[in-house]
Amino acid sequence: MNYVSEHPQDNTPGVNMNLSAQPIKMRGEKVSVFYGAKQALFGVDLDIPEKMVTALIGPSGCGKSTFLRSLNRMNDTIEGCRVEGKITLDNEDIYDPKIDVVELRARVGMVFQKPNPFPKSIFDNVAYGPRIHGLVKDRTDLEETVITSLKKASLYEEVKDRLHDAGTGLSGGQQQRLCIARAIAVSPEVILMDEPCSALDPIATAKIEELIDELRQNYTIAIVTHSMQQAARVSQKTAFFHLGNIVEEGETEAIFTAPKEKRTQDYITGRFG
Ligand SMILES: Nc1ncnc2c1ncn2[C@@H]1O[C@H](COP(=O)(O)OP(=O)(O)OP(=O)(O)O)[C@@H](O)[C@H]1O
Ligand SMILES: [Mg+2]
Repeated sequence: MNYVSEHPQDNTPGVNMNLSAQPIKMRGEKVSVFYGAKQALFGVDLDIPEKMVTALIGPSGCGKSTFLRSLNRMNDTIEGCRVEGKITLDNEDIYDPKIDVVELRARVGMVFQKPNPFPKSIFDNVAYGPRIHGLVKDRTDLEETVITSLKKASLYEEVKDRLHDAGTGLSGGQQQRLCIARAIAVSPEVILMDEPCSALDPIATAKIEELIDELRQNYTIAIVTHSMQQAARVSQKTAFFHLGNIVEEGETEAIFTAPKEKRTQDYITGRFG
């Protein structure tokens, strides 16, 4: 199956496609992650190029979420989890004791599989981050930040008349865009998304994919997905994980049209996973 040619409008060659020319926003070097005695990642090296979408693919349990979480130290919140190796953001070691983890997570935001709006109004969901990080000087400033973030998440038009209604009252796809707006509101540099569309219908999924494509103008994105079509449609770089290692990584088009490794070929053609 050729995923890329099904979507000739995407991944247009020449448009911000030269991976090697792109600055590296985040870099993982020899990243190993342990949950207690169990090792989940085995010395993974991966560069996340700036202002591009990097897709992490691979069968269940291969370590995609583990790697993603190590990029903003979400693994720190898991009891017994230990990370070895080096991960940098703009060449700075994010595991350095000097790093303020709260600030790191504002710079490297996260959107989860299941939309998880706070039990608050739409407005307050988006206002939450700017408020706790002290990013706004007054109410007008806050309102502007909320509206801009909702617009960037392509949700504003659908919710502008009910900003003070509960965020949890939105549809699943709208809730996920609300979570993206909430992530954007603190002006992150990197957005991590762990299967952001797996709870959504095809129309809501298409909207999120379109949004991801727009967001890469301004943000660096890493996305975990089980959908090969989605990886081919939204990403410029793909890394194929298997059993805690990266088997192959590179330009998305190359991975999907001419994988070098048999395991990659077998996975993308649906022979296992
Ligand atoms: N909190 C945890 N405690 C113990 N083991 C864990 C924990 N989270 C993940 N693991 C283990 O680490 C390995 C990698 O899991 P991870 O969740 O990163 O995989 P994944 O590729 O995201 O899988 P999926 O596609 O199913 O989400 C698995 O063997 C898993 O059982
Ligand atoms: Mg996962």
